[in-house]
Amino acid sequence: MSRPSVQFGLVGFGAWGQFHAKSIADHPEARLAAIVAPSEASRTAAAKAYPGAKIFSDHRAMLAQVKLDVVDVVTPSHTHRAIATDAIEAGCHLLLEKPMALTVEDCRAIVRLARERGCKLAVGHELRLSSQWGEIKRVIERGVIGEPHYVLVELSRKPYRQGADGWRYDAARVGSWVLEEPIHFFDLARWYLAGAGEPVELYAKGKSRDAARPGLFDNFSAMFSYANGAYAVVSQTLAAFEHHQTVKVAGSKGALWAGWSGALDRTLEPTAFLRVFDGEKLENVALTRHSGEVFELREEIAQCVRMARGEAEPIADGRDGLWSAGLCLLAEQSIREGRPMKIGKEFSA
Ligand SMILES: NC(=O)c1ccc[n+]([C@@H]2O[C@H](COP(=O)([O-])OP(=O)(O)OC[C@H]3O[C@@H](n4cnc5c(N)ncnc54)[C@H](OP(=O)(O)O)[C@@H]3O)[C@@H](O)[C@H]2O)c1
Repeated sequence: MSRPSVQFGLVGFGAWGQFHAKSIADHPEARLAAIVAPSEASRTAAAKAYPGAKIFSDHRAMLAQVKLDVVDVVTPSHTHRAIATDAIEAGCHLLLEKPMALTVEDCRAIVRLARERGCKLAVGHELRLSSQWGEIKRVIERGVIGEPHYVLVELSRKPYRQGADGWRYDAARVGSWVLEEPIHFFDLARWYLAGAGEPVELYAKGKSRDAARPGLFDNFSAMFSYANGAYAVVSQTLAAFEHHQTVKVAGSKGALWAGWSGALDRTLEPTAFLRVFDGEKLENVALTRHSGEVFELREEIAQCVRMARGEAEPIADGRDGLWSAGLCLLAEQSIREGRPMKIGKEFSA
């Protein structure tokens, strides 16, 4: 006998929310029960694309009227805390897009509330589910390159999208551009170096190319280090073209190198490779699936279906979301103050 579908309520039907909608609708054990979007244009588009879903202009009306298992929050980042709080208080599990929230205090409040109420909290660090970036973690865990000492995660791309109502270019609503894309790379590097514990120090540099928005950095680099001397470099430019990402990890025995290129971040036909050197021989690792955020999102929804059924834990949970947001915000502070920052217990929930 088939099991009842996991009921999803999607909040936000913008550029990324529409990919979430499709991934939910395509999953055989998920049902896209409701969609929230404030503008009439987005509500009309949502109703046309998903006639079986109930459409709302406010998430509180959805929570009051529809019985949901998972609330999927894909709204501008400054709205995350309020929506996540209401969804947890309504007893739902959460898939909360990165960044969890714009301040460490807000991230911590979400993590604590979810824990108190027994709600599962998955944070949108879907790159962990990639056939490519996830395979790097498995190579490290198998000990193929020995103990990792150095991680580089680097991206060059074209400028960010504006976002609905221009929120992504408004410092008050986006919080920090480091919270937009580099946050994924902080998460990956910290995940790869998990054997070294947690980072203890961070230093960052950033430069905007537009005098009208000096705090939104087109060029950004940060280095963070561990008590055992291992360190990671996270670097991104938005002043480039297309979308090209590199990861390099060097260990006590060997090293690896992965690259991903596409005309756009969401291309369905990227080129990607992973080369692993175990200290003796070099292997070109065949990737089992396409790598890219659109493919990883499908895996993330599948993981949330299992999470809602109590069969899996989130691949990145609230603690990870708090750490990645916290490192981004500390990088902002390091740039502002022009100095390295010590990391204590401030990112523990
Ligand atoms: N994990 C990833 O790889 C990834 C990739 C991209 C984005 N993101 C994250 O996903 C979030 C959304 O990004 P996006 O690019 O999709 O933004 P977007 O294109 O601007 O879409 C935002 C959507 O949220 C809706 N919205 C705005 N305020 C709302 C509110 N108070 N309640 C309910 N809905 C509201 C907007 O409604 P209207 O359309 O009606 O204006 C729009 O549909 C951001 O936090 C971003 O950082 C994550």
